Amino acid sequence: MNVYELIKKKRDGLQLSADEIRYFIVGMLSGDIPDYQMAAFLMAVYFNGMSARECFDLTMAMTQSGEQVDLSGIKGFKVDKHSTGGVGDTTTLVLAPLVAASGGIVAKMTGRELGHTGGTVDKLESIPGMRVALDRDEFVDTVNRIHVSLISQTARLAPADKQLYALRNVTATVDSIPLIAASIMSKKLAAGSDGIVLDVKTGQGAFMQKYEDALELAKTMVKIGEEAGRRMVALITAMQQPLGRAIGNAIEVREAIDTLAENGPSDLVALVTELGGEMLLMSGVASTREAAKSIIAKNLANRKGLDKLAELIAAQGGDRSVIDHPDLLPQPALKLEIASETTGYVTAIDALAVGLASRVLGAGRTTKDAAIDLSIGIYLNKKIGDRVKTGETLAVLHSDGDNKKIKAATDIFLKAYAIGPDRIEPPKLLLARITGAGVEEL
Ligand code: URA
Ligand code: CA
Repeated sequence: MNVYELIKKKRDGLQLSADEIRYFIVGMLSGDIPDYQMAAFLMAVYFNGMSARECFDLTMAMTQSGEQVDLSGIKGFKVDKHSTGGVGDTTTLVLAPLVAASGGIVAKMTGRELGHTGGTVDKLESIPGMRVALDRDEFVDTVNRIHVSLISQTARLAPADKQLYALRNVTATVDSIPLIAASIMSKKLAAGSDGIVLDVKTGQGAFMQKYEDALELAKTMVKIGEEAGRRMVALITAMQQPLGRAIGNAIEVREAIDTLAENGPSDLVALVTELGGEMLLMSGVASTREAAKSIIAKNLANRKGLDKLAELIAAQGGDRSVIDHPDLLPQPALKLEIASETTGYVTAIDALAVGLASRVLGAGRTTKDAAIDLSIGIYLNKKIGDRVKTGETLAVLHSDGDNKKIKAATDIFLKAYAIGPDRIEPPKLLLARITGAGVEEL
């Protein structure tokens, strides 16, 4: 095969065969195909898209580029969940223990921050002693024992994705639906679960800002997963404003603990109930969506989910007393209130800007391998629909005390809030449900 001819073929809008797609992936990993030719291929895909068959073939080539986790040592139906990324998305920390406490089995690999979106692994590392790098045997043993484990995705999982993502990031080819679908699904398929519930975010704070694009992405991923023999469902949910009230690492662990103690923000509780319901339904724990959701609600109310989080923390070497004493989590050097400059109702909170403000404050990495200060973050006192008066606290910055960072973050943050004279309803969270059978608008 000739790389030049293959790039030309894709550029001219023709379809590549499975072998031709595999040739690109294998050649990239071996170093035989240089970055500039891969970049040209990515741009051709960006402009011409991919057929469903091409996208499936790309996903499988990427899945097979590294380790494919064998979870057959775990008895029962393993269910995974994936969010396409948002701001302050505390979901996994609440959902994984809650589903396990409700009869599901969650053997989950999870990642670090990507772009402006946070990563569950970073959040978990703010729990003293918590280990996220279990070897395969310990991972399997832990899930068999307590029905849940959360570990860090290794570099051996879909290595082709890592290289492609780095190239996409610098060639303006990240926001391509087939490339995002293949990127996410290659990792999910390699991670080995039997069923996958996707939370596809749309709105300002999401990769897919437009609803139509989120729908297309969801349909594409559901199709790929089913073709690969997995059970699939996707929910499209709004990321119009950050989810819950906490954005950061330790601060989101605390929000997860509060939520499992029935003291959580309503949007986070609602999302967890929907996603958890889907995971139980898919696992066969309940036979209707309503029944599945009421099991989740029951295990929030009786704190079985919270007990399971404590069990999970202890099983992975962490200090389970953080559950009763969240002050054991990393604490910021300085908490600083941001006051509203006007009176009215919050009408919008630009999630992307809040994510950025949190990074500028120090909650994100500035270079690829930099350590992050896990104590840093933002707590939102006011969300869309809330009334606020001049001088009242909009949010609290959890800071390391660096004035330059505080000033930069505050400037970005204040611009993220829109305050107007009339109250508006908080945005609808749940927009659509996608299965192989079709789209149900909610
Ligand atoms: N998340 C991923 O894992 N990959 C993408 O391309 C976009 C979001
Ligand atoms: Ca949150």
